[in-house]
Amino acid sequence: MPGLDGLTVLRRAREGGSDCALIVMTAFGDSEKTIEAMKLGAFDYISKPFDFKLLVTQVNRAIEQRKLARELRSIQNGGAAPTISKAMVGNSPAMQHVYKLIGQVAASNVTVLVRGESGTGKELVVNAIHYTSGRTERPLVKVNCASIPETLLESELFGHEKGAFTNALYRRIGRFEEASGGTLFLDEVGDLAPAALQSKLLRAVQERVIERLGSNTPISVDIRLIAATSRDLEAAVNAGSFREDLYYRLNVVTIALPPLRERRQDIPALVQHFISRSGSPISITPSALARLCDYRWPGNVRELENVIERALVVARTGVITEGEIQLKTRAEQVDKKWTELAPIEEGLKTNMADLEKNLIERALRQAQGNKTRAAEILGIHRRLLYEKIREYGLEPD
Ligand SMILES: Nc1ncnc2c1ncn2[C@@H]1O[C@H](COP(=O)(O)OP(=O)(O)OP(=O)(O)O)[C@@H](O)[C@H]1O
Ligand SMILES: [Mg+2]
Repeated sequence: MPGLDGLTVLRRAREGGSDCALIVMTAFGDSEKTIEAMKLGAFDYISKPFDFKLLVTQVNRAIEQRKLARELRSIQNGGAAPTISKAMVGNSPAMQHVYKLIGQVAASNVTVLVRGESGTGKELVVNAIHYTSGRTERPLVKVNCASIPETLLESELFGHEKGAFTNALYRRIGRFEEASGGTLFLDEVGDLAPAALQSKLLRAVQERVIERLGSNTPISVDIRLIAATSRDLEAAVNAGSFREDLYYRLNVVTIALPPLRERRQDIPALVQHFISRSGSPISITPSALARLCDYRWPGNVRELENVIERALVVARTGVITEGEIQLKTRAEQVDKKWTELAPIEEGLKTNMADLEKNLIERALRQAQGNKTRAAEILGIHRRLLYEKIREYGLEPD
């Protein structure tokens, strides 16, 4: 290394964001340099002359340690532990079906598409598949396609060579390679918009071969692929924004998580689970539990989890009563996303009436009780508004 010494290389590598394992060989084994090298994160600092067997041992140890660090990182990213499959609560027939599917796919390498509204437990399913599969010794790597800017996503997934683009100062291993031997989880795959990226992904999924940006060398990757989405992928396919062939490649086995409101019998067990997980000796009154069972849970299990966590904080008496349970009011829920909240079992008439009532209430509120103004906002005749107000028993105040 003419002009540079090992420490400088090490320092520059770290400054450039590389975390590769570096072993420094040196003629000067003094404490100052040694300490500095180790502070900079050198894996080892070996002074000449040295035994080649020692070097081989250290290289092997470095590889081993990186493997562990990578696994630790993927576990930390997901907050998952190998016991995670036990953490799925709820024995409704719908969830039992989910558990069976997890068991069936775990043993194979089949590609899985996990579907369900936000907060239904998609990530838990992914963890459960990975940690019951034969790939537990290898990493579970998670990529959220919705949260990474489009321009960075390609290099995130496939990696790049040094100089592949401006600012590509170092080679970077992509997530596909990182997941090698393990599981790659593409979260929010329905948000993966760019057509070029979709076709590159198709090839990777189909042939299990990738190329780093700026390189033409194909690299085989041995991965189990799991994708998740809360979107209507079929609609995206029909609209031409999601490749149909990619859709079929990802959708080999589907695991669909039902919304919580369609498996209300799981609510008591979930509530128990979230309470006992906190470790505090707190119980819940039957009427408080009944309220939780009646609610519609637009945010699904995550919302229930949040409601219980809040109740645990404010419950001072060792009991959670209705007073500690704070749900969004019905009106607020309706404001948010009526179409998803309407329970189909209640039928068209009841739902339409509910929606109509809600719209009138909001118009009246906006018009500060002025009925003529409210009728204008709604685009209906004032007399019709009066009728509706009487029908629904609405009082302008
Ligand atoms: N069956 C379950 N048993 C216990 N906890 C659950 C269950 N399902 C979901 N949870 C909890 O609810 C929260 C949301 O779950 P998760 O993150 O898996 O949902 P998601 O479907 O991935 O949501 P999003 O679409 O918003 O990413 C997590 O804290 C999870 O631990
Ligand atoms: Mg998720």
